[in-house]
Amino acid sequence: MFFETAGGQAHKAEGLAHNPFKALVAPRPIGWISSLDAEGRANLAPYSFFNAVDDDPPIVMFSSSGWKHTVANVEATGEFVCNLASAHLQSEMNISSAQVPTGVDEFELAGLEKAPSRLVRVPRVAAARAALECRLLRIVELTDLAGQACDARVVFGQVVGIHIDDAMVSNGRVDMSRLQLLARLGYKDYSVTSEVFEMDRPG
Ligand SMILES: Cc1cc2nc3c(=O)[nH]c(=O)nc-3n(C[C@H](O)[C@H](O)[C@H](O)COP(=O)(O)O)c2cc1C
Repeated sequence: MFFETAGGQAHKAEGLAHNPFKALVAPRPIGWISSLDAEGRANLAPYSFFNAVDDDPPIVMFSSSGWKHTVANVEATGEFVCNLASAHLQSEMNISSAQVPTGVDEFELAGLEKAPSRLVRVPRVAAARAALECRLLRIVELTDLAGQACDARVVFGQVVGIHIDDAMVSNGRVDMSRLQLLARLGYKDYSVTSEVFEMDRPG
């Protein structure tokens, strides 16, 4: 099977019920982004267009399709936290993705306690097993091949502090089988990072 993506509808002609793009670029880690608006009100939402893009210094990105509260908040304050969602928080993560009016605190909506961060004012999810405190580097507005605006904004942030639940560490390494990170697949599918194997690099 092959199809061109022009017009965004081509997959339908090939007999696919839904656009498979996100099912192919998978699994995607979930950045569960907390932020504060200019008035100091907390916001929390999951973003699976999220990843690490460098490690020295550590830099992460997430991308917002459309202008969302998280981007507006990060632009206003210059700070955010990427909470990492483990399997035990899947319902809370999902609830926090609800489209709610400005100023509604998704921590409260999802019944989540806040924990203070060390270096940024933004609170983190107390129950998250790991969290990355970030300061804004830049926001890039995406354009397509024709130079048209995509209505998508990529936020780059430098990680200035990392929280890890001590119980997730064994023999000096983060134990992925304990962390049980949630990952986003396509459609309505998710995965949990529990099967791990090691491989040496050549040379
Ligand atoms: C697992 C998951 C991943 C998501 N990833 C993204 C994403 O990468 N980009 C995006 O714009 N919206 C994404 N969403 C939708 C947002 O979470 C949703 O629009 C939310 O209401 C945005 O909140 P905000 O306006 O407070 O930022 C995702 C939702 C879920 C459940």
